[in-house]
Amino acid sequence: MLAVCPGSFDPITYGHLDIITRAARLFDEVVVAVGQNSTKRYLFDAEERLKLAVEATAGIPGVRVEPLSGLLVDFVTGLGGGVVVKGVRFASDFDFELQMAHLNSAVGGVETIILPASSVWGTLSSTMIREIAAHGGDISEFVPEVVSRRIRQIAGRKEQADG
Ligand code: PNS
Repeated sequence: MLAVCPGSFDPITYGHLDIITRAARLFDEVVVAVGQNSTKRYLFDAEERLKLAVEATAGIPGVRVEPLSGLLVDFVTGLGGGVVVKGVRFASDFDFELQMAHLNSAVGGVETIILPASSVWGTLSSTMIREIAAHGGDISEFVPEVVSRRIRQIAGRKEQADG
């Protein structure tokens, strides 16, 4: 069975990688689908979010990364069918994912499997990572090396530009 792990991944964190790795143990194939949430403003553009996700998941067997455009249910159907896997950290995640799961089931007949976030990454979010990074904080314990390197590059460039 194929599983699709969709998200914005702005940027990909150890929390995402935990869900992706566990999904890869449960399913034959995992496709990480890097999408666009029209209600969000992004730090990284679509191309870079995809690139960082490819690099961060390179060592996980059975996992590949693809861009997601259009409806998630059409994407899953286009791959020949499968389930959506989503990680949830707390009740607010669950409320949102429940609504998405109901819609994706009603609109496209696609089922969603919800995995609880591992306790170690239980409250981690890309939003927090972006906030810490914006203030020059160290995010290296929360994100893969490719991501912290890229964020350091951006911060260095900004420092130079600010003089
Ligand atoms: O990490 P995010 O921001 O929660 O990811 C959201 C994403 C990109 C997975 C979501 O917006 C999505 O599935 N977009 C595709 C369009 C779609 O199917 N939207 C409706 C779901 S009912």
